[in-house]
Amino acid sequence: MVAKIPSMDMAGGKKMPAIGLGTWMSTNETELENALNAALEAGYRHIDTAYVYENEAIIGRVLKKWLTSGKVTREELFITTKLPMCGIHRDRVEFFIKKSLESLQLEYLDLYLIHFPIGTNYIEGFTLTPPDQLKLEDSDHIGIWKKMEEQVDAGRTRAIGVSNFNQSQIEKLLKAARIKPACLQIELHLSLQQRDLVEFCHKNNMVVTAYSPLGNPSYNKFLETVGMEARELPNLLQNPLIKSIAKKHGKSSGQVMLRFLVQNNIVAIPKSVTPSRIKENIDIFDFSLDAEDMASLKGLEIGEKARICDFRFFPVLESHPDWPFSKQ
Ligand SMILES: NC(=O)c1ccc[n+]([C@@H]2O[C@H](COP(=O)([O-])OP(=O)(O)OC[C@H]3O[C@@H](n4cnc5c(N)ncnc54)[C@H](OP(=O)(O)O)[C@@H]3O)[C@@H](O)[C@H]2O)c1
Repeated sequence: MVAKIPSMDMAGGKKMPAIGLGTWMSTNETELENALNAALEAGYRHIDTAYVYENEAIIGRVLKKWLTSGKVTREELFITTKLPMCGIHRDRVEFFIKKSLESLQLEYLDLYLIHFPIGTNYIEGFTLTPPDQLKLEDSDHIGIWKKMEEQVDAGRTRAIGVSNFNQSQIEKLLKAARIKPACLQIELHLSLQQRDLVEFCHKNNMVVTAYSPLGNPSYNKFLETVGMEARELPNLLQNPLIKSIAKKHGKSSGQVMLRFLVQNNIVAIPKSVTPSRIKENIDIFDFSLDAEDMASLKGLEIGEKARICDFRFFPVLESHPDWPFSKQ
């Protein structure tokens, strides 16, 4: 059965479906194709990708099939991708959005995000600049934002926003912007609820999108691929409180975590390549968490210590003045 997915209102009258499919670490063609087909069949219309995920072309091929078959229309879809760190330069914003549009085989994006507040040099042929050739650049957020606004003017994206920016970085953009950022995408789950930042964004008419909404149980596998040691991470799926609330509602722990976010007006983009989980993650609109559930889930907040995707896999970034997270 195709689920009916509510949307969150965005600045400028656009709407973002409250659940989207995350696609980071999905680069296996068959696996991702199957995942996208399962997601679209289940009613997902919102897909989150990024230039650096190296999967835009796979997503583009699947979307093309769905669009040409008439099973979905472009207006029904909500496609987000992101300007990579090596694109954070006035001369490279248009170049990178055009590359993403070409790979996705789309005329326009629904949302284009600055992936991270720090820019690096770009070496042709590399998605990520190799660490031994990496140079940090002056991020010039205001100058980059003007280039992002030009992408809206040119019809290449309906909305623009930022990811991994902190409150003071967003405040500066809000003061200077002609087109205000419509969205902030940040790590957000029960152990890291970022309530002040969420409140600030909502007051400023920005949609908040939660990445790693399930606490990314695969993160240590990723660290292994980049040669880093495994870390102790919050194991939310096994948390006894979440399990007991899930049992009470006849739902899974993952569904409780996602429902908590949506009930707080936060969009969630869980990633899965497993069709049964893809269906499960969107099947959260037939139950509600009551006030007691919400209060006890709120109590699972740990704060900054619980940050999973801390970008320290690029150790040099932390020395940059635009490092957005607290220093360790
Ligand atoms: N802007 C940024 O800097 C940024 C950073 C990180 C992530 N993101 C975006 O946010 C998306 C989601 O975040 P994430 O991938 O870090 O983490 P996540 O969605 O919290 O977790 C993904 C992991 O959870 C597993 N999973 C999914 N549904 C499950 C369920 N119902 N029960 C048990 N396990 C389940 C998946 O496994 P299987 O796939 O094997 O099913 C995968 O290993 C990303 O894919 C990406 O699109 C953005």
